[in-house]
Amino acid sequence: MTIETLTTIAQLRLLLNAARSQGTDVGFVPTMGFLHDGHASLMRAASADNDLVVASIFVNPLQFGADEDLEDYPRDLERDTALAEAAGASLLFIPSVDEMYPFGPVFTTVSVDRLAAGYEGATRPTHFSGMATVVSKLFNIVGPCRAYFGEKDYQQLAIIRRMVADLSIPVDVVGCPIVREPDGLAMSSRNTYLDQDQRQAATVLRRALDAGAALIENGERSRVAVEAAMLDVFASEPLATVDYAAVVDAANFEVPTTLVNDVRLLVAAQVGRPRLLDNCGVSVN
Ligand code: PAJ
Repeated sequence: MTIETLTTIAQLRLLLNAARSQGTDVGFVPTMGFLHDGHASLMRAASADNDLVVASIFVNPLQFGADEDLEDYPRDLERDTALAEAAGASLLFIPSVDEMYPFGPVFTTVSVDRLAAGYEGATRPTHFSGMATVVSKLFNIVGPCRAYFGEKDYQQLAIIRRMVADLSIPVDVVGCPIVREPDGLAMSSRNTYLDQDQRQAATVLRRALDAGAALIENGERSRVAVEAAMLDVFASEPLATVDYAAVVDAANFEVPTTLVNDVRLLVAAQVGRPRLLDNCGVSVN
């Protein structure tokens, strides 16, 4: 099916209201564009589960800090359209900033309190409320049965799950596995900022996670010891500046002293211009 691009909320609602009234299941994949196979994997999952897949591309000013890359966030709509179509999306929603925020500053925002305080939230204090606000707005515009998010942004996924539960938003949130480059680097639109040496150094995130996971698998149960092992890997990479290397309870982001059940290893580091994120899950028996 040929993909159709819509730029206004009214057009999209008209089309989706008609589809829903005929019993069509709508799947939704929100993105900021400059799509790669990680985004495509979400669209493929959505098209396997739903009759119709809507993908959105919107570089949301609300979730960027003043010194961040809002102005030059990479864009390539032609390539994005082809990729979304090949991955099974049938509608592409690409609103302007004026269409989304016609009154300028928003007075109403969504904040997911303590889940948004640490890790990414500690470095980017307004990011998660900007993100949660636009995602709830997009849910209101699209009205999907299911919405697809990558585990790549694990804290974002946890925040959206909690927001949907707290506000009784009628959507199933589906988390999808991280898609990686052959050398283990998690795909990201911002990887395009890396030069050759930085691109090589960026594999340190995955190497740190592997070291932490291996330690747990070998019986280590101290959170502090696992975090120290991950930091040691970062210390061996001069082009990377680690922000955090942490172990949290995978279900609720609580900080365990002794590791039990399912934990999530989270890392973030600055490599040249971009701040890169990665994470992995480990089951502790
Ligand atoms: P963006 O960074 O474009 O990511 C859109 C979706 O793709 C997110 O759910 C993200 O977790 C997922 N994704 C990115 N890289 C991935 C990878 N390597 N493997 C699997 N999934 C991956 O995240 C955002 O946009 C925005 O915050 C948004 C939710 C659209 C709100 O503005």
